[in-house]
Amino acid sequence: MSENLKKELLEALGAARSQLEALGDLGFESIATPEAPELYPPCPIGVVDLGGLAPCRTESLEEIATDLGDCQRCPLATSRTRLVFGVGNPNARLVVVGEAPGREEDLQGEPFVGQAGKLLDRLLNAIGLQREDVYICNVLKCRPPQNRDPQADEVETCEPFLVRQLASIQPQLIMALGRFAVQSLLKSKIPISRLRGEWQEYQGIPLMPTFHPAYLLRNPESKRDVWEDLKEVRRRMLSLERER
Ligand code: URA
Repeated sequence: MSENLKKELLEALGAARSQLEALGDLGFESIATPEAPELYPPCPIGVVDLGGLAPCRTESLEEIATDLGDCQRCPLATSRTRLVFGVGNPNARLVVVGEAPGREEDLQGEPFVGQAGKLLDRLLNAIGLQREDVYICNVLKCRPPQNRDPQADEVETCEPFLVRQLASIQPQLIMALGRFAVQSLLKSKIPISRLRGEWQEYQGIPLMPTFHPAYLLRNPESKRDVWEDLKEVRRRMLSLERER
């Protein structure tokens, strides 16, 4: 074997080793062969399967919903009526993340269909978006009794499904509504009043924190702030569109 070939082989082995180590760091314990891509692990956020070239596959929302099933992973299962997975465009460029289902959502099994949801629809319409254009989901998939605040263990149990939804959709932008969505996604304790209106990042995806529509129903004077945030989302969507 020539010295050159030997050098190239050693370099290729080194690159393969680094790749495997990087995948290990991401939590992969095994990799499937190209002959069985259906066995590839789900792509994490920021990795697209590139038509079978990446050693992972994009998980569908249906698969995630099937895995969630009739979830009994936390005590909210005993008080909920219906689990609220999420709704909208599976290829949405914008994902809207709320806190948890309320009474109407719990009854209908769909996020943001009550009063706050009607306001959210109007806010989206104001920047030229229909509900069907975006994907809407919550940090918690089940209603906390009497709409109490989500508890840390409930968020911890439920959040992996939100992470998988985001990895499946791979949105260009995220809009997080209210303190719980913002603080859960950003792993931050900074008050929403300080975070709103400034772009943050979730796993490399620009995230706009803004007030929750339910808060706006109680504090209509804050609609002006949310309007500014929405205009910023629209501006960024348009500039991403121009870049494509
Ligand atoms: N509030 C939320 O955060 N999510 C819903 O789906 C409804 C109300």
